[in-house]
Amino acid sequence: MVTQFKENESERARKLDGARVAEEIKREAAEDVARLKSAYGVTPRLVVVRVGDDPASAVYVRNKVRLCEELGLGSEHVALPAETTTAELLEVVESLNRRDEVDGVLVQLPLPKGVDESRIIEAIDPSKDVDGFHPINVGRMMLRQPSLLPCTPAGIVELLVREGVEIAGARVCVVGRSNIVGRPVAELLLQRDATVTICHSRTRRIAEVTREADILIVAVGRASFIRAEHVRAGATVVDVGMNKLTDEDEVRDFFGDEAGKRLKAVRERGFTLVGDVHPLQVGAVAGRLTPVPGGVGLLTVAMLMRNTIQAARLRRGIEEERKKGKG
Ligand code: GUN
Repeated sequence: MVTQFKENESERARKLDGARVAEEIKREAAEDVARLKSAYGVTPRLVVVRVGDDPASAVYVRNKVRLCEELGLGSEHVALPAETTTAELLEVVESLNRRDEVDGVLVQLPLPKGVDESRIIEAIDPSKDVDGFHPINVGRMMLRQPSLLPCTPAGIVELLVREGVEIAGARVCVVGRSNIVGRPVAELLLQRDATVTICHSRTRRIAEVTREADILIVAVGRASFIRAEHVRAGATVVDVGMNKLTDEDEVRDFFGDEAGKRLKAVRERGFTLVGDVHPLQVGAVAGRLTPVPGGVGLLTVAMLMRNTIQAARLRRGIEEERKKGKG
């Protein structure tokens, strides 16, 4: 097995700039909201429902509500106790379905054990399903019919398109087959004429498959799962992972000379956030690489704003399409 390092190992992968693209999408969203308000008197409104007190979910929900406020969308945060039953949550969802001024309903996942996640997702009015998780929206996406697309996969496509990465004809390898990321991103890239392979926990000799990829997308939820030997020299690598690293030796292994700030975070907060890709090893081989944090995560929430605006248009029969959008 030959590990392909770049000839000059000091040459690092160029950043695939999720932050820049997210800012662009947010700017467009703010313009769209202002126009919907002035031309139609409509303010798109998102309601985020959170059950229980998982601290990570609380941070995600706060970020979503804050971004709505920043861009001029209406927003509400419904916080329910951890003991909430499936029946009680169904009632909340149904009451939001009935409220005409609510355009988007998002139930933050994961839900506490004992709550039937599928029943909750299926109860959301598909026209308000800004996550794109409802079976009707998943089916419409697969049939290439207009629908609300899942935010992270759609954000990855936006990132590649706006950063000038050619998708048509490219060999894409997706590592991970979740309903939220792996499967839909594979489908969206197939729709843009990539040749797509999906790897998962049962894939044999996975490095042989991932090394074929011009574009490697990784969403497995394991720190350092993808290392130098998995990546073809010059490939574009999109790291969807979000893992907490707590061990200082591991942090030094991941970041080498640039570990200083990360070590400080571990000492002060107890952890630093890393993706599924070994940044030092893969940075020496890949052509382009998304940072974690500051990559795909920022795009997910930006795309949620766009979906909420799109839901408001579709529900109210407003047919304008933004001209600059490339998605
Ligand atoms: N939890 C982690 N990511 C997501 C997401 O995209 N949508 C929802 N509803 N919950 C999540």
